[in-house]
Amino acid sequence: MILLMICLVTGTFMPYGKNHQPASNPYHAKADSVLALMTLEEKIGQLNLSAAGDFTTGQASSSNIAEKIKAGQVGGLFNIKSVEKVRDVQRVAVEESRLGIPLIFGMDVIHGYETIFPIPLGLSSSWDMNLIKKSAQLAAKEATADGINWTFSPMTDVSRDPRWGRVSEGSGEDPYLGAQIAKAMIEGYQGTDLSLSNTMLACVKHFALYGAPEAGRDYHTVDMSRQRMYNEYFLPYKAAIDAGVGTVMTSFNEVEGIPASANKWLMSDVLRGQWGFDGFVVTDYTAINEMVDHGIGNLQTVSALALKAGVDMDMVGEGFLSTLQQSLKEGLISEQEIDAACRRILIAKFQLGLFDDPYRYCDVNRAKTEIFTAENRKIARQIASQSLVLLKNEGQVLPLQKKGTLALIGPMADNAENMTGTWSVAGRFPESVSLMQGIKNAVGDQVQIIHARGANVVADSLLESRVSIFGKPTYRDNRPEEELISEALEVADNADVIVAAMGESAEMTGEASSRSNIELPENQRRLLQALAKTGKPVIIVLFTGRPLALGWESENIPSILNVWFAGSEAGDAIADVLFGDVNPSGKLTMTFPQNTGQIPIYYNHKNTGRPLPEGEWFQKFRSNYLDVSNDPLYPFGYGLSYTQFAYGEIKLSSENPVGQQTVTASISLTNSGKYDGHEVVQLYVRDVVGTMTRPVKELKGFQKVFLKAGETKEVSFELSQEDLKYYNHSLDFVFEPGEFEIMIGTNSDEVSSKKIAWTN
Ligand code: BGC
Repeated sequence: MILLMICLVTGTFMPYGKNHQPASNPYHAKADSVLALMTLEEKIGQLNLSAAGDFTTGQASSSNIAEKIKAGQVGGLFNIKSVEKVRDVQRVAVEESRLGIPLIFGMDVIHGYETIFPIPLGLSSSWDMNLIKKSAQLAAKEATADGINWTFSPMTDVSRDPRWGRVSEGSGEDPYLGAQIAKAMIEGYQGTDLSLSNTMLACVKHFALYGAPEAGRDYHTVDMSRQRMYNEYFLPYKAAIDAGVGTVMTSFNEVEGIPASANKWLMSDVLRGQWGFDGFVVTDYTAINEMVDHGIGNLQTVSALALKAGVDMDMVGEGFLSTLQQSLKEGLISEQEIDAACRRILIAKFQLGLFDDPYRYCDVNRAKTEIFTAENRKIARQIASQSLVLLKNEGQVLPLQKKGTLALIGPMADNAENMTGTWSVAGRFPESVSLMQGIKNAVGDQVQIIHARGANVVADSLLESRVSIFGKPTYRDNRPEEELISEALEVADNADVIVAAMGESAEMTGEASSRSNIELPENQRRLLQALAKTGKPVIIVLFTGRPLALGWESENIPSILNVWFAGSEAGDAIADVLFGDVNPSGKLTMTFPQNTGQIPIYYNHKNTGRPLPEGEWFQKFRSNYLDVSNDPLYPFGYGLSYTQFAYGEIKLSSENPVGQQTVTASISLTNSGKYDGHEVVQLYVRDVVGTMTRPVKELKGFQKVFLKAGETKEVSFELSQEDLKYYNHSLDFVFEPGEFEIMIGTNSDEVSSKKIAWTN
């Protein structure tokens, strides 16, 4: 408390220590005036981030953690839910610790707080930066109303291996799109003024390369060239830094043989040196301790390595708390290094306005009126409907008419709790709108709805128990499979159309949820096979947190609507699309493979010296498989609409640009179908000849445009040399003059192209 008064009144400027960052931040001086008052123990205490566990309000201020807070051993707390508890704990920090330094309160607010938006992979499929930003803004508004001022989001790990369960938390396989989304999310969370009570500190994660674990197994080793890092995997992290993200989280994996949390090259040279990051770095959960198992030293050694590498805050593991004093005595680290870390954390607290008012985010009235509101849910429904991707619609089975009898069958048909998907810690699972409820809301008594479960999520009950541990039950039915199927067939017999709610349950993706086979579980496929035999139109409403290998389904089922996990309003949003109140416009941001063996498969790959000739899928001594073509099942950027879009020829403002000239590439786009709708027009470029090999295509622009039925619009993109630069073999960011192929189209596969020759 004393402290708060001192720094508010004086704003004292203390002389800078040796290890100081440039004093560009207006809060440096204030933070230094606090540092000057702190003991070594208190400084190290600020570097400690504790997990709160689940206490009741009274317990919050009397827990073990409260004791540590009083002793000045905690800088921040996460996973504490409810404004009353946050206020209680903050009071302990401010009134009962010696200096009264306020705590920062974090949480994994990943795709919404209580109002949950689609999982990030779904959000990315909207290709709508305004809506994505809006979702982050609303998440910040709700979370801050409940006492939280720091979110561990966005996850910007480029991910190209759908076996990895965490692809659901990211924006897919493309660096350019990932970078745009990172920016939109950070602008949404942080706004233009972090000290406002409805904006929060964001945390870009997991730095770095967490999305590239070997074999798609979570936490596994990563090994990658620097060229690939700089040209592909680094782009979204860097975009987050450029957008002013306040914090960065380390990744669990190693990078070039050194775990990220001890990797000085990553945390200091790249992040702070090359990119100018001046916020603070937090580890992932116990990531410092885990470096003991990685095999680079005991807890004292790895903690010292982490601090020296540039880590500021230690999440949960208390390696800093328990060893840094000893390391200082032994000369392994310096007090300046501790000061530098502590200063960065104090600055963040100043930025959030916590030194002005530690209870800035503790307004109980806001908590009552601003969370899970009808208005927020309405926006969540709109965003959710934009994230759905229509994968197949043979014979225009969709949209459905609001008449007749509809059989709703499948393990996800009536499961509200699973709608929010992974990482929705503050969500109100049972209050989410299930598909059944959404359809009922949409059709009232115009359609008769009949229902059977038909199948469990997976046949194996042990596997099922591994994917329903976080409050998202799967409601297993223990009757024999044949009985479930025959009940479903009886129901289907009375219907005009079958909606099969299939796929994964929420916890089949997310952290530590890798799968070695990404097909639809076999028991669900058997149900589908039986349903297909009825000859009635079948629509798969596909719940999934990752691309699935849908070879059989895409051959045999006329219509597939991929709905991801669309959030609290999922059921209503899906019904909006099923019945044509919303025309689907989502496009995939990760390739769907034909089978698991094709993984990793992504559109922006290199060419090899033995590419397949156009139109062929096998030739001996070419780069291909014997048993499957190289083609994806559904390519990056793919997604259908109820209407059709006709693309005109590409027009270029110049085919021989020179120097700093910009080139305009445009096409005319016509909505040639019967429905109004959105189309995501995509621009790809291939650098035909480089001093290094270049990808066969790279996304360089996109526009989501709305066209009324019959309407034509001109869609244009501007390209400059800047857009065509890349990191060459020496990691210089260069433009290399020469030939470029400009491609525009409806997805990464269906494009038309023209060449330009650019001279310097
Ligand atoms: C995850 C992070 C998350 C953290 C805190 C870790 O296990 O990898 O993404 O932010 O836990 O919950």
